[in-house]
Amino acid sequence: MRGYSEDVLGDVRAKSDIVEVISGYVALKQTGKTYKGLCPFHTEKTPSFVVSPEKQLFHCFGCGAGGDVFSFIMKTENVGFAEAVKILADRAGIIIREDSEEAREERERLRALYEVNEAACEYFQRVLMESPEAGAAREYVRRRGVRDEIVRKFRLGYALPSWDALLKALTASKIPREALLDAGLVAPGKDAGGYYDRFRARLMFPICDAQGKVLGFGGRVLDDSVPKYLNSPETALFKKGRNLYGLHLAKDAIRKESTAVIVEGYMDAIASHQHGFDHVVASLGTALTEDQARIIRRYASRVVIAYDADAAGAAATVRGMEILAGARLDVRVASLPAGEDPDSTVRKGGAEALARVLTDARPLIDYKLHLAISRCDRGTVEGRVSAAREAAMVLATIKSAVERSEYTRRAATELEIDPNALGKDVEALVRAGGARPGRPGWGGRPRVAVRPEESGASGDRNAASRHTKSEDDIARSGEMMKVLEAEKMLLRLMAESGEVRRIVLEQVGADGFRDPGHREIARAIVAEGTMSRSGSGTRAEAEGGAGGDAVEPTRVMAALDNEETRRYAAGIFLGQAGEGQGDPSRMAQDCLSVLREHSLRDRIREVERELASLGGTGEMERSRALLAELGSLRARLSKEFQPFSGIG
Ligand code: CTP
Ligand code: MN
Repeated sequence: MRGYSEDVLGDVRAKSDIVEVISGYVALKQTGKTYKGLCPFHTEKTPSFVVSPEKQLFHCFGCGAGGDVFSFIMKTENVGFAEAVKILADRAGIIIREDSEEAREERERLRALYEVNEAACEYFQRVLMESPEAGAAREYVRRRGVRDEIVRKFRLGYALPSWDALLKALTASKIPREALLDAGLVAPGKDAGGYYDRFRARLMFPICDAQGKVLGFGGRVLDDSVPKYLNSPETALFKKGRNLYGLHLAKDAIRKESTAVIVEGYMDAIASHQHGFDHVVASLGTALTEDQARIIRRYASRVVIAYDADAAGAAATVRGMEILAGARLDVRVASLPAGEDPDSTVRKGGAEALARVLTDARPLIDYKLHLAISRCDRGTVEGRVSAAREAAMVLATIKSAVERSEYTRRAATELEIDPNALGKDVEALVRAGGARPGRPGWGGRPRVAVRPEESGASGDRNAASRHTKSEDDIARSGEMMKVLEAEKMLLRLMAESGEVRRIVLEQVGADGFRDPGHREIARAIVAEGTMSRSGSGTRAEAEGGAGGDAVEPTRVMAALDNEETRRYAAGIFLGQAGEGQGDPSRMAQDCLSVLREHSLRDRIREVERELASLGGTGEMERSRALLAELGSLRARLSKEFQPFSGIG
């Protein structure tokens, strides 16, 4: 599935002690059974990054990052699983023999693509530096003010005005035409078997991954012909929206400042770096994606968007910014002077001009308000009314009540309208949007489902309206949090004890978990437990009790397909382990009882709902059956879960 056999993975894992590996990146200090350090994935002053040698897992209690030794390498080196295995194997001196034919072919294909791209990049660079036919290109670069050292750093090149210069040069150095075709550097011509160069008479910008390996190219014409830019087509390496231009040159600075600046174009990134803004990357004119958000999140907690005014206001760009914000990045938007981009800004006003623009960047919400308001004509009453309506919609999306009222006040001042009136509109919208519990506890980070101050109830002093659905929702979300906590505890206990696994299987089964992610982890634990038992060949149940037949967390992790689930699982396994807290079976029973109570309550709610929806006639039969069930459910609830409120 991942290209390596279990044997190879096991070997690499066994020789890659997580503490040793992570020590190469983070200063760790031993505290009891675990090691602690400053999290490499977010900026912090007090260590919340924990590594457990016993469980071979890491977890950050600050940002939620976590996983096994493979996950750690994937995150820090910004590579995929296969590459992470390779890095660790190299480190441990293990020679990897690929097992499947398919995996070998795939790796070979990618390797060939990298090789072709690298050869083309070197070729274009050489042409720009040396070719007599590249005089115009050199003049163009000079005119745009790009210094030689930056040309070298960004590895700029030139594609000659020829149909086959690259094709000839590279095939002469033994690169097969098929590889050039795969890399999108040549395209099939009209004649059968003929190929021609894709990039002709263009200044070439190699686009690299975080390690600086060339994935594809962008090429710019030297005049104002169209298309101005031409990019590599999608290939096995080059995927739109998966990379950020200049990341390999910017990542250290981004990490250091915990801030990334995103500009649109190649020249914007290059000019910024030339003027000392090393934490700048370019999105290459496309809307930002979740993949890009994830990449940035590895290095930074804040992002400044510095697009030219038109591009920044475009709906797709604003959506992209929201994607970044959704990835828990603090998003700021810089306003460039009308008609300028970062390249022209530094060229005209120097580094100070760009620095000013970046420092003045305002929070995303502020920017969205500004957009909403400035779209309307504030000279007329109708215009102000519609501006107020637009503003209210933006304001209603602010989660924190304090922030919401602060921004409401500001917007009202700007619009010269009554802040109380605007506030009422906003709160009405918040209530109409309702409390959205989402998927509490799951979906990446621990999250309080619906906090009262976010539900709209607290901003409202009117008691009547509090007796609505939202109070119910809050109560239920409290119940849901208890359930999810119980499930997490159960997962931990299941990992530690075979007896607990048996109890859980008997009483609810792995599918009895309410949360889909928990379900997946539970299934992996059960599968791992069964496997290790049959492997050892002993009847492990006989041991029973605490500490008996724990499963290896890393093996459970390996059975989980999805990196996100692995990360989450690491948090569970490393969160307060059950050790020393009591008998695991007893604790498991307590957890199971929480789950049972919840499913009883859930069924009661369901029956009540159905009863309420039944009309009078013709449905007497059904009503009677439901009422009978309701009675017995309530009786069970009070008997099993509220022993002191009954008669006894
Ligand atoms: N772009 C593209 N294809 C196009 C036009 C633009 O891929 N036909 C991408 C390029 O990455 C470009 C970015 O969108 O750098 C921004 O486009 P634009 O603002 O038009 O160009 P500039 O970056 O300002 O380019 P230059 O300064 O060289 O004119
Ligand atoms: Mn430009």
